Amino acid sequence: MEQQKRYGHFDDQHREYVITDPQTPWPWINYLGNEDFFSLISNTAGGYSFYKDAKFRRITRYRYNNVPMDNGGRYFYIKDGDTVWNPGWKPCKTPLDFYECRHGMSYTRITGKKNGIEASVLFFVPLKKWCEVQKLTLKNESSETKSLKLFSFEEWCLWNAATDMENFQRNFSTGEVEIEGSTIYHKTEYRERRNHYAFYHVNAPIQGFDTDRETFVGLYNEFADPQAVMEGKPRNSHAHGWSPIASHYIEVTLKPGESKDFVFLLGYIENEQDKKFSAPQVINKDKAHALIGELDTTEKVDKAFAELNALWDNLLNIYKVRTGNDKLDRMVNIWNQYQCMVTFNFSRSASFFESGVGRGMGFRDSNQDLVGFVHQIPPRARQRIIDIASTQFPDGGCYHQYQPLTKRGNNDIGGGFNDDPCWLIFGTVAYIKETGDFSILDEMVPFDNQPGSEVTLFEHLKISMDHVIKNLGPHMLPLIGRADWNDCLNLNCFSWDPNESFQTTENVSEGTKAESLMIAGLFVVTGKDYVNLCQRLAVRGKGLENTPAADISLTSNHSPLTPAFFSAEAERMQQAVDAMIDAVKKHGWDGEWYLRAYDFYGRKIGSNECEEAKIFIESQGWCTMAEIGAEDGMVAKSLDSCKKYLECEHGMVLNNPAFTKYIYEYGEISSYPEGYKENAGIFCHNNPWVIIGECLAGRGNDAWSHYAKILPSYVEEKYQTLHKVEPYVNCQMVAGKDAFKPGEGKNSWLTGTAAWMWYTVSEFILGIKPDYDGIRIDPCLPETATDYTVNRKFREADYEITIHPNGQQKGVKAITLDGQKVDGTVIPYSPGKHTVEVTM
Ligand code: BGC
Ligand code: NOJ
Repeated sequence: MEQQKRYGHFDDQHREYVITDPQTPWPWINYLGNEDFFSLISNTAGGYSFYKDAKFRRITRYRYNNVPMDNGGRYFYIKDGDTVWNPGWKPCKTPLDFYECRHGMSYTRITGKKNGIEASVLFFVPLKKWCEVQKLTLKNESSETKSLKLFSFEEWCLWNAATDMENFQRNFSTGEVEIEGSTIYHKTEYRERRNHYAFYHVNAPIQGFDTDRETFVGLYNEFADPQAVMEGKPRNSHAHGWSPIASHYIEVTLKPGESKDFVFLLGYIENEQDKKFSAPQVINKDKAHALIGELDTTEKVDKAFAELNALWDNLLNIYKVRTGNDKLDRMVNIWNQYQCMVTFNFSRSASFFESGVGRGMGFRDSNQDLVGFVHQIPPRARQRIIDIASTQFPDGGCYHQYQPLTKRGNNDIGGGFNDDPCWLIFGTVAYIKETGDFSILDEMVPFDNQPGSEVTLFEHLKISMDHVIKNLGPHMLPLIGRADWNDCLNLNCFSWDPNESFQTTENVSEGTKAESLMIAGLFVVTGKDYVNLCQRLAVRGKGLENTPAADISLTSNHSPLTPAFFSAEAERMQQAVDAMIDAVKKHGWDGEWYLRAYDFYGRKIGSNECEEAKIFIESQGWCTMAEIGAEDGMVAKSLDSCKKYLECEHGMVLNNPAFTKYIYEYGEISSYPEGYKENAGIFCHNNPWVIIGECLAGRGNDAWSHYAKILPSYVEEKYQTLHKVEPYVNCQMVAGKDAFKPGEGKNSWLTGTAAWMWYTVSEFILGIKPDYDGIRIDPCLPETATDYTVNRKFREADYEITIHPNGQQKGVKAITLDGQKVDGTVIPYSPGKHTVEVTM
C-alpha cells in the first residue's frame, strides 16, 4: 500500500497521542475537565471552555465552521524581535522550528520552538476546581539573552452561546469587565440576574493588558496579526460593550539556558445572591482570590497535575488487558475508556461537530454511555441514572433530551422516540451488575421533575417495559413513534417543509401502523434482563449475600413490591418477551435477514421486496443480540447477510443499497446523499451490535474482523489523511461504500460508538462480563488469539484472569479460581485478590 503522510503517533507509555504536524487534516482535539468545568482544545490550542452546560454557561467564545477552520482559542503570542509566533502554530502560522502537541488523559501539552526559544504550555482542569490551568514554560535555548514580549489572549462569550451568536443589538452594549492587578474579570450581566463571573489571571506582574477586542486586534486585522501584538504595544483598553476579551502583556528577559514558568488561570466563580458585590458596581472577588491562591505557583500547579494523573491511573487500573497486541491493548486500556468518559461527561452536546447549543443530554445516549464508565465511577453512574429517570413521563415515555444545567427535560425536542424507555433498563442493569447495589431500585424518582410525583426507580423500569407493550402495532411489534434508535427513520413525519426539523415536526400518530424491528430486538434483550432482575428480587438477597446492599427493602405506595409481586412480574414480562419473539419470527423475518420496520401504511421496510435499502443493520444487530430464531438459523443467516450486503473495507454500512431519492414516508434517513450519515454511512455505533451478535453465535473470526475495521488504532496508519478525524477515538460515521469518498470519517468523539466498542471488546470479545453474583467469563476470539491476561477490579475484589484460548473461538472448558475448580462460567464474587485461569 502507498505510504501515507503521518501527522502523529501513539505514545502508550505516557497514554498520549503525539501530533507532530500542526496542519492535521481536521482539528484533532482533546477534552479537559471531569466535572463541572470543561474545555475543548484542539492541537493548535483552539476551542473554548464552559461551566456544566455548553449552551447556557459558555465562558469563552469560539467560532464554529469558520474560515479559517478552528478559529478562536487560548492563544499565546510571543514577539521576539520582529518575529511573532505561537507555540501551537496558530493563529500566526509562523513556521516553527519544532512543534508537538501531546493529547493525554484530560490534559494537553503543546510545545513550539522558534529562534532558540521553547514555549511549552500544559493545559488542564484541576480536580474539583472551576478553572483551566495554562502553565506556560518559556526557555531560552540560545546562547544570547532574549527579551521577549508575551501576550495572552482569550475572548469572552456572553454566557448564552446561542444568543451570543445572534443577538448583537443587545450584546454589543452589555459587555463589562474589571481589571485588578494581573487579573481580568468578565462580569457581563452580573449587574442583573447572573450571580457568576469569570476571570483570566497570570501569576506574574503584567506590564499592560487589553480587554476590548477591536482595540487589541484592530478592526481590519485578524487573530493572526493583532495590532497590539504586531506593534508590541498593549493599549490598556477597558471594554465597555462590544466584544470583551482578556489579554495580558508581559515583558520577559531570559538568559541563555534560563527558563520561566507562568501560570495562567481561566476561572469561573459563583457568588451567593447577597454577596454579589463588595462595593456598588464592584464584584465580590473573594472566591476568585481564593482560587488563584490555590494555584499561584508552579509547585501548586504541578501537584494538581499529579492528582489528575493519579485519578487516571486509578480509573484505568480497573480493567487492564495484556494481549501482546499493542493496537488492541492501547485502545482497551487507554483510548476507548477515555472516550467513554468524555461521552459520559458531554453526551452529544459539545465537540467540533456538535456546537454545544443544539443538544443536551440524550435519554438513550446517556443510558448507553453508562456501560462505558460504570466500572470506573459507579456513584456518578448512579446519579446519572436518577437524573435521566427523573425526566421520564408517568406513562413511561421520555423526553428525548435534558439540559445538564437544569437537569430538566428539553421541551424543544420533546419525546415520542419509542426506544427511549428500554434504555433505562439497559443502563440500570449494567449499574447493578457492576456494583451489586440493588438499593438504587429503591430510590424515589419523580416524573418530569415534578416534586410529589416520586415513585421508586424500579417502577420507572416497569413502566418503561409497559410503554413498549402498550404501544404495539398491527403485527404486535413495537410502534416506532417519532423514531427509534435511528433518529432519522421518521415514519410518521411526512414533511415537505424544508424549514421543519424531522425530529420535532408534528407527527401523524393517529392511524399509524409504523412498527420497529429494532425496538422489538431491544425489547427482547432488555426484557430478558428485566425478567432476570425480577427473579432475583423475588428471592430477595439470594446470591447477594456478599454485596454491600444485600438487604433490599423495596417499598412503594403505588404497588406492593413483595417477593410474590416480583415472581408474577417476571412471569408477566417473560410472556411479553416470548410474544415479541413470536411476532418477530412471524412478521419480522424476510428470508435472509430481519426486516427493519413497517411504515405508516403497514408496508415493509428493509425487505428484499424493497427497491432500495433492502437490508438495515439495526434490526440485524438487535435481533441477533436477542438471539431471535437462532434455533431456526435466523441468526446465522442474518449475520451472513450483514457480511454479504453491509460490510465493506471500512466497516458495515447502515443500509444497503443506499436511498437515492427522498422518500416522504421515511423522513430524514432518505434526505442524506448516498453513503453519508443514516443513509448507508458506516454508523460505527451499530457495528458493535452485529459484533455482539457474532460473539453470541460463537463466530469469533467474524466478530474480530468487523471489530478491527472500525478500531481507531487499526485505522490509524491507513487513514491518517483519508479518515481525517482523530486517529485515537471513534467517530460517529465513516462514509460508506456508496459515498463519494468512502472511508472519510466525521463527527468524532461524542458517539455511542465509544460505549458500544467498550462493551463489545471488554465483555464479549475478551469475555469479562460483570454479573449479579460475580464475573462471567465467556470470550469470543479469532482463532489466532494467543494467551492474554485481564486485571479486573470488581467491587471489593481484584482479579487477575488469564485466558488460554487454545485456538478456540468460543466455549470455556475449565476455570480455576485461586487453584480451585469453578463450576460453570461465573467466578463467584468474593472480596480480595484472586487469580483465575481459564481454558477454552
Ligand atoms: C442526525 C442524527 C441525530 C439527529 C439528532 C440528525 O440530523 O443525522 O444522527 O441523531 O439529527 O437530532
Ligand atoms: C445520534 C444520536 O445521538 C443517537 O441518539 C442516535 O441514535 C443516532 N444519531 C442515530 O440516529
